[in-house]
This record gives sequence, structure tokens and C-alpha cells, in this order.
Amino acid sequence: MTDAPTAQRPYSPGLEGVIAGETSLSFVDGERGRLLYRGYRIGDLVAHGTYPAIANLLWTGDWDPTHRLATGQIPPAVMAVLRALPATTKPMDALRTAVSAWGATQDLPWPPTIEHARALTSFSPSALAAFARLRAGDEPIEPDPSLDLVGGFLYQLKGERPDAGTARALDAYFIVGSEHGFNASTFTARVITSTRSDIASAVAGAIGTMKGPLHGGAPSEVVDQLSQVGSAEHAEAWVRDALDRGERLMGFGHRVYRAYDPRAAALRTVAEGMEHRPDWLELAIQVEDVALRVLAEKHPERALKTNVEFYAAPVLMGVGLTPDLFPATCSLARHAGWTAHVLEQAADNRLIRPDVNYVGPAERDLPA
Ligand SMILES: CC(C)(COP(=O)(O)OP(=O)(O)OC[C@H]1O[C@@H](n2cnc3c(N)ncnc32)[C@H](O)[C@@H]1OP(=O)(O)O)[C@@H](O)C(=O)NCCC(=O)NCCS
Repeated sequence: MTDAPTAQRPYSPGLEGVIAGETSLSFVDGERGRLLYRGYRIGDLVAHGTYPAIANLLWTGDWDPTHRLATGQIPPAVMAVLRALPATTKPMDALRTAVSAWGATQDLPWPPTIEHARALTSFSPSALAAFARLRAGDEPIEPDPSLDLVGGFLYQLKGERPDAGTARALDAYFIVGSEHGFNASTFTARVITSTRSDIASAVAGAIGTMKGPLHGGAPSEVVDQLSQVGSAEHAEAWVRDALDRGERLMGFGHRVYRAYDPRAAALRTVAEGMEHRPDWLELAIQVEDVALRVLAEKHPERALKTNVEFYAAPVLMGVGLTPDLFPATCSLARHAGWTAHVLEQAADNRLIRPDVNYVGPAERDLPA
């Protein structure tokens, strides 16, 4: 409808290229392959920090590498909800439901506080672990306050305390997954917060957004490809065949990063430093070298480098998670970023309410 005032204004489908806010939490620099949280390089944060320290950095702006956060208790009402879910429930649906039920048990007045962010971030790993056990017919395990959040999550999931290398590898995954700018789920959390709704609603909405296949990456597809490769000696032939068939190699290339994804680099460093590398990691490290060489040979015109998913997959498999838990585990990691964005939005809030261009029929009379 050409007489709508909005028709004169530029419209960008998907809001692509539109600056929809300001943040001091992270800087995603695709050209130079940099990811900074509050100015600090992701590689340095992985090398010297833990997930609780990074979450605290995002929430407060303060760098305290000794900051600790254990997994939280599950309120009885939430546990009752988790027990009521069918075993066939998708883990993302279970996590979203748990966060929503948690919100119903809390007093969450406006504005949201760091304590709310901390409480929700520590609750969710316990909830996902409890759901995973319940669906397998096992009883949930109480949080162990002596374990840090990621080790505690693994303990509550599997019933045994993880070794230091395993906990460290998953912790690195949580750090690189904790924040990544104005992606769709983060934007959702900020829109919900902008109405002065509560932090549980914002995170439940964000989980619902992250559930869509266009949002997250493809770590389970990386697992599929690695299992097709099977062993390092088959890597070269498999990679060449796949590219000759016109297939894409999962875990390579990125819309934003034109250089090596700094999150993949940080995960690879942790993986290589593991004392007992799980077979999955060993295979991935060997396949990556072959894939980068063959991609450079076949596509000399464009920089196709490793992306975060390539290492997310073997780390998640290596620590013993089943692929159907990958998206929900990614959501656990993103709690730090989501809740930090909730706090940032609330601190300088303006209702997010863009315009829409009306393209329907012109004004008309109802049919007689
Ligand atoms: C991430 C991705 C979707 C980015 O897509 P994009 O921005 O359209 O990609 P580019 O513009 O850089 O390059 C497109 C070309 O490069 C090549 N290319 C890009 N990624 C490739 C890959 N992983 N394997 C092989 N070739 C690839 C293709 O020739 C493609 O040309 P085509 O469209 O004619 O097939 C893409 O690289 C991809 O599909 N990667 C594999 C899936 C994956 O790892 N996803 C997780 C991302 S975090």
C-alpha cells in the first residue's frame, strides 16, 4: 500500500544490517576473526578463566578469575513438572518448561538483578540434568556445592564426578558459547525485558528462539560426518569425495567470520592440552588438518576456515553427551550472555517496538 507513511522508509528483511541496540558485552569482529567479551579476547578468557568467572564478567564488568558458581537446587514444584513430562519430550522443550516453571516459583520483581541472573544460570544445568536422568528412568542427583557449575552439571547428569580434563573441556565450550552479540535469541530476551517482564520469561523466550534449526549451528551434523569419516587414514579420500559431490563440510565456513573462528581456536587449544583425549577429539583434530588443506586447494578464492561447531561436536561427544542434548547444552552456556543482556537492557530500558510496513488491501467497505 503506497500511501502508508512507512513505505517511504528503508526496510531490511530479517533486520539485516539494522543496528537495533548498543552493548558493551561482546564484540564479534568477523573480518579479523576476533571475539571480545568486555574487551577481553576469547582465547585469553578460555586460557585463564572458568565459566562462572566469565558469567560474572558479563554480569558485572569485573574480572575475577576465582569467582565460583555451583549448580542450584530445583524447587519441588519444578521437579514435579519435570517428572510429569513424557520421556519423549525434546530436551529444549524440557529446559524451556523448567525455566518457565522456575519463574513461577520465584519472586522476580522489576528490575532484574545480578542475583536473579546468578540464580537462573545455576538452576538450569540442574534442571536439564534432572530431566535427562528422569527420561532414562533414573533419579535426579542433588547438586554438589563443592563442584563448579560445569563439573556439577556433568556430575548431576552422569552420577559420577568428572575428571579435571573432561570438566575443563566442557567448561571451555561453555565459555565460548556464553555470548555472541545480537543473535536472534539474545534479541528475543531483550525484547521481552524491554516490556519490563521478568528474567525467567526473557530466558524462556530465548530458549524457544534458539530451538529453531536456523539459529544454532550444526554440531550433530559434524558428529554424523566424523562418524562417516571413521578414522584419520580415510579422512583425505572422504573429504575429497564429499567436495566432489558438491557437499559442504560441516564445521567449516561462516557467514560472519572470514578468518579462523576464534572460538574454534580456543576449543582446539583446550582439546590438544587434554591428558586423555577422547577418540572423538583425536579424530576431529586429524580431520581438521586434512579438511583445511583440501578446502584451500579447492576454494583458493575464499577463506573457508574452521567454525566453532567443528570443535563443539567432539567436545560434547567426548564428555559423554548424546547429540540430542547438544542444543540444550548450548542454551545452558548462553544463559550467561542472555541474562547479561537482560541486565543491560533493563539498566537503560526503552520498549523495543519497531514499525511494520502495511502491505494489505487499501481501506474498503465490508461486503454487503
Ligand atoms: C556457515 C555457512 C552456512 C556460511 O554460508 P555462506 O555465508 O553462504 O558461505 P560463503 O558465502 O562463505 O561461501 C559460499 C561458497 O563457499 C563454499 N563453501 C562454504 N562453506 C563450505 C563448506 N563448509 N564446505 C564446502 N564448501 C563450502 C561453497 O562453494 C559455497 O558456494 P555455493 O553456495 O555455490 O555452494 C556455510 O559455510 C556452511 O554451510 N558451512 C557448513 C555448515 C556449518 O558448519 N554450519 C555451522 C556454522 S557456525
